[in-house]
Amino acid sequence: MAEVRVAKSAGFCYGVERAVKLAEETAREKGGCAMLGSIIHNVHVVAELEALGARQVDSVEEVRPGETVIIRSHGERKEVFDRLEQLGSVCVNATCPNVLRIQQLVAQADREGRIPLIIGEPRHPEVMGVASWSDRSVIFPGPEELEKWLLQEPSRQSLSLTAVAQTTCIRTIWETSKEILKKLCTNAKIFDTICSATHRRQLEAAELAAQADVMVVVGDRKSANTKHLAEICRKACPVVYQIEQAGELTTGFLSGCTMAGLTAGASTPAGIIKEVYTTMSEEIKNMEPQEESFEELLD
Ligand code: F3S
Repeated sequence: MAEVRVAKSAGFCYGVERAVKLAEETAREKGGCAMLGSIIHNVHVVAELEALGARQVDSVEEVRPGETVIIRSHGERKEVFDRLEQLGSVCVNATCPNVLRIQQLVAQADREGRIPLIIGEPRHPEVMGVASWSDRSVIFPGPEELEKWLLQEPSRQSLSLTAVAQTTCIRTIWETSKEILKKLCTNAKIFDTICSATHRRQLEAAELAAQADVMVVVGDRKSANTKHLAEICRKACPVVYQIEQAGELTTGFLSGCTMAGLTAGASTPAGIIKEVYTTMSEEIKNMEPQEESFEELLD
């Protein structure tokens, strides 16, 4: 009989949970506040917070003087904190502690005169925020770009470097970057800053995908960690659906399937995962041969 298996680590991580809780508490206590950018990559959660009086603003210039501002789990650029201070805003910093640590490592590298190297997506808000803690930061999407940059640098052996990873970086990208760095540079401090919750989620997704005929990955399309999960699953499973909600699954999508796997990104609420699970289970139930009634057997 066909079945649906759910990855244990699917859904909210503690950093996102903490940020949403802080935003909820602040909105209730203050009777409203501003959320700078999407507090998490999930339109449903953002809508719930807006209903509590938390208004979303896209730029620091939209913040009203003296207003309480929630900083999302991805963190923010240093200049944003400086501007909020100028505006006299009360800042509730919901930056995930893992991201905060990377910001501190970059700031420390800067104080020590080292060049911070960040392996991550250059346009991702977490990476842009982390990079802003030093004017010398250089961002590399992957090992190829890092190797090219190092080979162009004649004094690379003696360069003082500090390497960190985006919290949701794919582990193989980080490991290869680390090997290149160790081979080409003798003065690099290397900090593995991939979030353990992300790592666990990626491992479980890969294991589940290797056994499944079909994988469903749930999460906001803008979410980097959801995108990475789908990429990882595609390497091990022939059919992968990346969706935001159950309504995107069409009838028959599990036909011929004996085991379907389900996982979700760090910003996917449990309620959405449950809906997707229910849709998948119903689909499987409908695939099972229905028992014929006594009258049908006589026909
Ligand atoms: Fe933090 Fe890791 Fe979540 S970095 S926001 S606990 S995915």
